[in-house]
Amino acid sequence: MSSNGARSFAIAPGARIKVAPGAPLQGTVDVPGAKNSVLKLMAACLMADGNYVLSNVPDIEDVVTMSELLSSIGLVIEHHRDTQELHITNNGNLQLFAPYELVERIRASVNVLGPLLGRFGEVRIALPGGDDFGSRPIDMHLRGLTELGAQFEMRHGDIYARAERLHGTNITLDFPSVGATENLLTAAVFAKGSTSIENAAREPEIGDLCNMLVAMGADIEGIGSSTLVVHGVERNALRAVHHTVVADRVQAATYIAAAAITAGEVVVRGAIAGHMEMLLTRFTDMGVVLVEQHDGLLVIGPERLKSIDVVTLPYPGIATDYKPLVVAMLSVAEGVGIVTENLYPGRFRYVDELQRLGANIRTDGHHAVVRGEAKLSGAPVRAPDIRAGAALVVAGLVAEGETIISDVHHIDRGYDDLVGRLCTLGANITRL
Ligand code: EPU
Repeated sequence: MSSNGARSFAIAPGARIKVAPGAPLQGTVDVPGAKNSVLKLMAACLMADGNYVLSNVPDIEDVVTMSELLSSIGLVIEHHRDTQELHITNNGNLQLFAPYELVERIRASVNVLGPLLGRFGEVRIALPGGDDFGSRPIDMHLRGLTELGAQFEMRHGDIYARAERLHGTNITLDFPSVGATENLLTAAVFAKGSTSIENAAREPEIGDLCNMLVAMGADIEGIGSSTLVVHGVERNALRAVHHTVVADRVQAATYIAAAAITAGEVVVRGAIAGHMEMLLTRFTDMGVVLVEQHDGLLVIGPERLKSIDVVTLPYPGIATDYKPLVVAMLSVAEGVGIVTENLYPGRFRYVDELQRLGANIRTDGHHAVVRGEAKLSGAPVRAPDIRAGAALVVAGLVAEGETIISDVHHIDRGYDDLVGRLCTLGANITRL
């Protein structure tokens, strides 16, 4: 992979972020493109030869890792950071193999399965491992692909998948899994006949993938709904396109949370309110004033937030990825809030870190009871994953004294210059 433009930060596992309270955040911040969209769009570039341009690409480590993986498969990728574009060339000369060293670093690597199996009828991919917040199986991906006619064999930790030509069928997912929906969708594009995917995930990032596939020549109905119908096309029917990555709703929510917790007044430019409706309703219940504007959202934080109860659910419910932010906000809100996690049972590990800042949180299985404190106090903490890392930064904005966050490489996986963006809003924050 070659790259143009300066990096906004050095890749350093030892990097830390120092944050301290300051004036309420003020100003305008731009929302970058979505991590959980761009990674899947990049994998979709395996599906047709030609020259692709992806715009509004976030400058994040997961894009670098995905680029390494796709380059090892045979795509030629240039990241133009100055124009936020990826230029991707697919010359058709691909290795149908995704090795463990790359697969284990990034969950989205499993998204090469559907495109390669559908187009070439075979692929070998290392089985992805667990995650910082627990086991993350791909049984639904494999079951659905089996229904489409694929055969699987496990050898030395790799999955070998084969299918002369996939055939259309009706698949009902047990649960609206984002990754399974994406893999089945991309595989079904080249299947013979039509495939319906019932109980499909409906996240905006899946809509973004569908829109790119349709522009490439795929035939998909029901985009944005929980029933996707894919009418298969010939394997050479797709073409390369230029596509703009949808705005990142989790990064947008992070800046909303940062503005809200500091009683600030911030325009989150590019935030799409329609992609985060339920979350915004709950933020309003917490006392945050949100005004939709032509180019984004005006956020006005209250003197003190009010506690609420929150339950995470698949889209359009409140996403698990927002939850650490909400827990950070509840830590200083007035009253008691109960947060229930329904997607990843292990995703409360960051609570220990928030407790180091003085947060009063008790967890019991899938639930966390958060008693709002008038004040948090800064301390050294560790970012256990991308979203929890960002939540610790948000909490640090109001914790008396200094909060030093280590393991910042987790945050870099999914946040495009979080520190720089918060600085422009007047936050007292530095990358060490
Ligand atoms: N699951 C299974 N079997 C499967 C697939 C999923 O049991 O075959 C379980 C998972 O273990 C998990 C739940 O179902 O408990 C949700 O998994 P899903 O497949 O919906 O999620 P994913 O595709 O693995 C994406 C995002 C996550 C986000 C989830 C839920 C990407 C690369 N990742 O993961 O994002 O939390 O959807 O919205 O798109 C993040 O960005 O920090 C992140 C973790």
